[in-house]
Amino acid sequence: MPATKIAPSVLASDLGNLNCECQRMIDSGADWLHMDIMDGHFVPNIVMGAPVVASVSKAVPEIFMDCHMMVADPGRWVKDISEAGGKSYTFHLEATDDPMDVVRQIRATKMRAAVAINPGTPASEISDELGKAVDMILVMTVWPGAGGQKFMKECMPKVAELRARFPDLDVEVDGGVGPKTIDRCADAGANIIVAGTAIFNHPSPKDVIAFLRSRCDE
Ligand code: DX5
Ligand code: ZN
Repeated sequence: MPATKIAPSVLASDLGNLNCECQRMIDSGADWLHMDIMDGHFVPNIVMGAPVVASVSKAVPEIFMDCHMMVADPGRWVKDISEAGGKSYTFHLEATDDPMDVVRQIRATKMRAAVAINPGTPASEISDELGKAVDMILVMTVWPGAGGQKFMKECMPKVAELRARFPDLDVEVDGGVGPKTIDRCADAGANIIVAGTAIFNHPSPKDVIAFLRSRCDE
């Protein structure tokens, strides 16, 4: 199984102090920072885009930004996010008719390529060709668009199915993940753990990050 990585979602951070918040997470043991990029089309909200990614990248050069692109036209932002310092680019399968083309565009940069599926999208929609072409699959455990929602445990069989089909791939979970739901994620085979409110709303993010990691590495 690939290595565990804990990726706090900055959507739950104090966005007015984003650079400091990212540094605080790195100092607390975060492996990656999860950046939720929304365009007001694929999801109703708008949060941040490439200029914010660039600003964080400049202020916190050692950061690994896991960019979750909740956008309607995923190919459109590949170059901008790459030039801004994004390290991984996750597009939604539901947002494109040609996922292999989006992967090709991401591969033309130095970023890692990843594909996400919404709670309503079966794991079987990820073809063998697509699974072999990406570095990571993100199984959403809430409907995308907002932090602080309830974890959907019914998505766990998809994590298990994808882990069985692609043993060496990173499988990420995102949405409502925290100390109370981590065991289900780890048991199903997820190794990249995104958590927003569970980490940022806790007095000791360091303890939460260490706990989530320990449950995956058990
Ligand atoms: C939802 C986002 C998630 C969200 C996670 O649209 O993709 O990354 O911020 O936040 P929590 O952990 O609070 O559910
Ligand atoms: Zn996300």
